[in-house]
Amino acid sequence: MKIDDFNRGLFDFLAVSTTPYHAVESMKKILESEGFKELREGDGWKLTDGSRYYVSRGDSSLAAFSYSTDLVDKGIRIAGAHTDSPALKVKPNPDMYRKSYLQIGVEVYGGALLNPWFDRELSLAGRVTFKGKGASIETALVDFKRPVAVIPSLAIHLDRDANKKRSINAQKDLPPVIMQCFDDKPSLDHILKDEINSNNSGRVEEILSHDLFFYDGMAPSQWGLKREFITGSRLDNLLSCFAGIRGICDSKNHDPVLVIFNDHEEAGSVSDVGAQGPFLKSVLQRICGDMESYYRVADRSTMISMDNAHGIHPNFADKYDAEHGPLLNSGPVIKRNANQRYATVAHTEAIFREIAKGEDIPVQSFVVRSDMACGSTIGPLTAAETGIKTIDVGVPTWAMHSVRETAGVKDLYWLYKIVKKYFAKGSD
Ligand code: CO
Repeated sequence: MKIDDFNRGLFDFLAVSTTPYHAVESMKKILESEGFKELREGDGWKLTDGSRYYVSRGDSSLAAFSYSTDLVDKGIRIAGAHTDSPALKVKPNPDMYRKSYLQIGVEVYGGALLNPWFDRELSLAGRVTFKGKGASIETALVDFKRPVAVIPSLAIHLDRDANKKRSINAQKDLPPVIMQCFDDKPSLDHILKDEINSNNSGRVEEILSHDLFFYDGMAPSQWGLKREFITGSRLDNLLSCFAGIRGICDSKNHDPVLVIFNDHEEAGSVSDVGAQGPFLKSVLQRICGDMESYYRVADRSTMISMDNAHGIHPNFADKYDAEHGPLLNSGPVIKRNANQRYATVAHTEAIFREIAKGEDIPVQSFVVRSDMACGSTIGPLTAAETGIKTIDVGVPTWAMHSVRETAGVKDLYWLYKIVKKYFAKGSD
């Protein structure tokens, strides 16, 4: 796949993957179009040699793999990423009627950079559970797709120190305005019911609960005088999801390979669908059949954990180690940390570097400054849960965890090519 086609596919993927639920939905569509068959965790699995499968958990985590009976000899080549991004999550009792406006109470999900959320058109999406016509509990994904909310800033005239001292109180300053209502005061539940019924021909009797997020309503864009940059929402970590899903589809391999996409990374990964939960390990155990095989496979397997890296910011270069400031458009970044906040060790780094070299793709290195705390990824948690050797890599970006983040136009394509080659290794 050429870089322009790849990036067109990426932009389509970013636009529809507005929440972890929608990211899983769009990845399932890609897998189905490539002939992967769906498995359910609650069913018995009868796997056929050479077939490709996918399985999801909790609507927001997904694994896909090609099955091969020689996996005990070969091990499994794995790549993974996370489906979630920092966002504003709607509270259980969200309705706040103030000064003629309906505002929605929100919690901050993950380590969001909050300033950029003000004064931009937001939309609303997520998962809703409701009582259907037959009194059964049903679930639907909802995405308003159009701008429905704004968090207005306080004008500088009413806060003269705003450019020097403004801080954000998440409880008080963030509730977005979604409508003006003078007489009629509709609840968000009522609005949700109408929205779902207008799309699904009147199924909802009563809204029971929801997992809803506000998201930036602007489409991603390619910009720069040479069109060398990409800016968009949720690049952390939908970029890596896309590299993984295209990598497994385009490798056309029937060797044992697997991709895993976990929710809840931005909240610490401890959940039934998170990387510190049992999802990946249980899928691997079922593929292996028995524990003896599992341990043999784990020893022979490797995992590429993909999550964005910090590209050096030209206005804040002193925040980076001078020898480890990755540049945009200069190659995927290998992340190291002496204290295992990243899972990379010399052996896994060498494997990745050799594949990149063979494909003529540059790679860069990142370590955080020795006097600053380091972030983390699903890499160390997955390695700890499964016992599989792991490397942490990612695309260099600016403004990580802002509502819009920026990456170079080439790096993700390069990461995809490395993942594809990693999956195809041994088949050529
Ligand atoms: Co991330």
